[in-house]
Amino acid sequence: MNNFDFIINAFKNMKTVGTVFPCSPQAARKMTKPVRFDEAKFLVELGGGNGAITKEILQQMRPETRLMVFELNPAYAESLRKLNDDRMVVINDSAEHLEKYLKEAGVEQVDAVISTLPLVMFDEKMRNSIMDAVMRVVKPSGVFIQIQLSLLTKKEMEERFPNLRIDFTPFNIPPAFFYIVTKDSEEVVELAKS
Ligand SMILES: C[S@@+](CC[C@H](N)C(=O)[O-])C[C@H]1O[C@@H](n2cnc3c(N)ncnc32)[C@H](O)[C@@H]1O
Repeated sequence: MNNFDFIINAFKNMKTVGTVFPCSPQAARKMTKPVRFDEAKFLVELGGGNGAITKEILQQMRPETRLMVFELNPAYAESLRKLNDDRMVVINDSAEHLEKYLKEAGVEQVDAVISTLPLVMFDEKMRNSIMDAVMRVVKPSGVFIQIQLSLLTKKEMEERFPNLRIDFTPFNIPPAFFYIVTKDSEEVVELAKS
């Protein structure tokens, strides 16, 4: 799906898409920078959209790494499937059901969860349920990266995640913040250096 079609669809589904413009290439690079692609076996993307981040992940992924992408919007999910990459499975369902699909795939823990979900549009219960599921599935040495287009959830995220680092790019419409969460405090120190 091209960017124009993404924008039209986003206007029609503002409540679930959360923004009109797909992420910029600069934002896609920031989103993927903390991922250790050289070691990663299994990655998850939440909110694939028209593939702005997915393509960057696939480009950096090793041939043996697998990617599971959740996308609620059927038109976006269909366009992601058209990327036609055997390493990726696209789930046209809500990210809330992340653990169910990982279990079905025989995967217990993942190396990274990369999310562009519009968290501020979700009610607190749903937001908490997704964040809890994410933290249960991320490996101790893994990472969770969440883009946000404002700092509205900053306090909530800082309280929830002691090992939180925030990155930023002005090169996105609108400018974007990145929450980078690790379970292991040593890991966040290492990532901060990169
Ligand atoms: C801000 S857009 C980002 C799209 C794309 N990743 C990008 O970077 O341009 C958020 C995406 O999350 C999807 N989405 C919203 N709620 C979702 C949910 N509960 N589960 C899975 N995907 C969801 C929307 O349909 C939309 O494609």
